[in-house]
Amino acid sequence: MESLFSAMIVLLLVTFSWFTSSEALTNNNGNITIKWDLMSWTPDGYVAAVTAYNYQKQHSITRPGWKISWKWTKKEVIWSIIGARITEQGDCSMFKDNIPHSCVHKPTVVDLLPGTPYNQQVANCCKGGVLKPGLESSFQLSVGNAGTSKRTARMPVNFVFTAPKQQYICGPSKNVRPTRFITADKRRMTTALMTWNVTCVFYKAT
Ligand SMILES: *[C@@H]1O[C@H](CO)[C@@H](O)[C@H](O)[C@H]1NC(C)=O
Ligand SMILES: *[C@@H]1O[C@H](CO)[C@@H](O)[C@H](O)[C@H]1NC(C)=O
Repeated sequence: MESLFSAMIVLLLVTFSWFTSSEALTNNNGNITIKWDLMSWTPDGYVAAVTAYNYQKQHSITRPGWKISWKWTKKEVIWSIIGARITEQGDCSMFKDNIPHSCVHKPTVVDLLPGTPYNQQVANCCKGGVLKPGLESSFQLSVGNAGTSKRTARMPVNFVFTAPKQQYICGPSKNVRPTRFITADKRRMTTALMTWNVTCVFYKAT
């Protein structure tokens, strides 16, 4: 009888925490969605286009701007990044010829400033981390030591979105329907190889 009772308590607690965690991520006040599109495979990984959308009406991200970080699940490195930079290079001593932009296990991305040279820009980048309601911010990464197929590429985990004086909570990365892109002349449609989404919601002002 006593064990039945404790089993019921555990079940109640599990149900309760499941409700609160899924509820926390479907917020009427909107969210920040981070979309990670795998655009092409490379000899040791892939090129990804990453975009953060501010789907919030009330919360604008102001200077010094957003930061996005995550944790790799394997030994991934970032060969190069356009439209943003990684705050730390980390230990790339195992590389002899080409040196990656970053070898850290938990990279943090910050935006570039307006006025960045055109050859270091992608569309919707370089706004000094400012992300107004309804707008988006993008950067492009070349990831190495990563899988080179849909079966072997691994989603990064533990996403953290930070903004000045605001705290966010991010959900898990999800493998979603690949994004379809339309060319500027609207005459050709392409599809991402894979797309991973992460949703972050405003938690509190700090
Ligand atoms: C995030 O906000 C967008 C726009 O309001 C909405 O379409 C989407 O469903 C939201 N995502 C989640 C996981 O609630
Ligand atoms: C992933 O995020 C993008 C950008 O917000 C959105 O258009 C797409 O519907 C999302 N996919 C899913 C399955 O939520």
